Amino acid sequence: MAERQPIANRYALNRRVLVTGGAGFLGSHLCDRLIERGDEVLCVDNFFTGSRTNVAHLLDHPRFELMRHDVTFPLFVEVDEIYNLACPASPVQYQHDPVQTTKTSVVGSINMLGLAKRLRIPILQASTSEIYGDPDVHPQTETYWGNVNPIGPRSCYDEGKRCAETLFFDYRRQHDMNVKVVRIFNTYGPRMHLNDGRVVSNFILQALRGDDLTIFGKGDQSRSFCYVGDLIEGMMRMMDTPPDVSGPVNIGNEDEFTMLELAEAVIALTGSRSKIAHLALPQDDPRRRCPDTTRARELLDWKATTKLREGLEETIDYFRQFA
Ligand SMILES: NC(=O)c1ccc[n+]([C@@H]2O[C@H](COP(=O)([O-])OP(=O)(O)OC[C@H]3O[C@@H](n4cnc5c(N)ncnc54)[C@H](O)[C@@H]3O)[C@@H](O)[C@H]2O)c1
Repeated sequence: MAERQPIANRYALNRRVLVTGGAGFLGSHLCDRLIERGDEVLCVDNFFTGSRTNVAHLLDHPRFELMRHDVTFPLFVEVDEIYNLACPASPVQYQHDPVQTTKTSVVGSINMLGLAKRLRIPILQASTSEIYGDPDVHPQTETYWGNVNPIGPRSCYDEGKRCAETLFFDYRRQHDMNVKVVRIFNTYGPRMHLNDGRVVSNFILQALRGDDLTIFGKGDQSRSFCYVGDLIEGMMRMMDTPPDVSGPVNIGNEDEFTMLELAEAVIALTGSRSKIAHLALPQDDPRRRCPDTTRARELLDWKATTKLREGLEETIDYFRQFA
């Protein structure tokens, strides 16, 4: 007969993972993957831009727990790892209450770093390519310090995230903590927001509804898009690196597509009769935005592998319910 596990070991069987912003687009996919791996997940969210619907399929799972909480207030829980994703991520959403956006990044990070310090556990920050601002270096490597306006309407997000990175590295230097920072580039996939002005969701909805796909300028400006499954894999690999690896590490797809190519792919994959309409190019529309992911390849043996067509098909399937 198998020997019974002592109670203490039974408690230690599963890794307990806190995901802040876990009811959002990326957070909900991360919760899925952690549950799949056998972890216990504590999903913390104030539902500002996320929703219970994103994690509805997990609510009855015995290893999943959902807690309504705003990370700008301290949190006292017992966990083994923290992924800090809480923060509105698109301009319409983060500009809705810019002071709260900065507070979420800065005070939220202080609270989560404080928790990680007390528990002496690893903590990962979901940072962003926006910390490079309007870059004058292409593609962006992690050694580039960025070109950011500190007082503009996007600053609440860009500077909030930059300050969060500062806090992560200061907690590491000052308290010898195991911190990880990933800089996420444009990511798309099922559960992304419907109306937050992002180009992938815009094009898909326009195509499914038979409306014109609106492109700024000629459409020869390029972007890179990472499928959510690839991104989550990169984040989890980063969390599992040894304590001396802190990053920052760019996570994104190096393949670039012009807006015109993206629009044509969406029209073809949806079978839509929509046409392409060209609008005036906004002044601050960058010509290119593309990560250098050499560091992710070297440190994490990670590279985005999902082809745009494959990722778009999954995303289009998800969006059909809203068209
Ligand atoms: N999606 C992308 O392409 C992208 C790119 C770069 C960085 N990121 C970063 O990844 C993280 C997740 O982004 P997302 O695209 O899933 O956005 P999202 O808006 O879907 O998710 C953010 C989640 O955080 C929650 N939240 C916001 N403020 C909170 C607070 N004060 N307390 C608790 N919860 C709070 C929201 O309700 C939401 O569920 C963000 O930190 C974002 O900055 C995302």
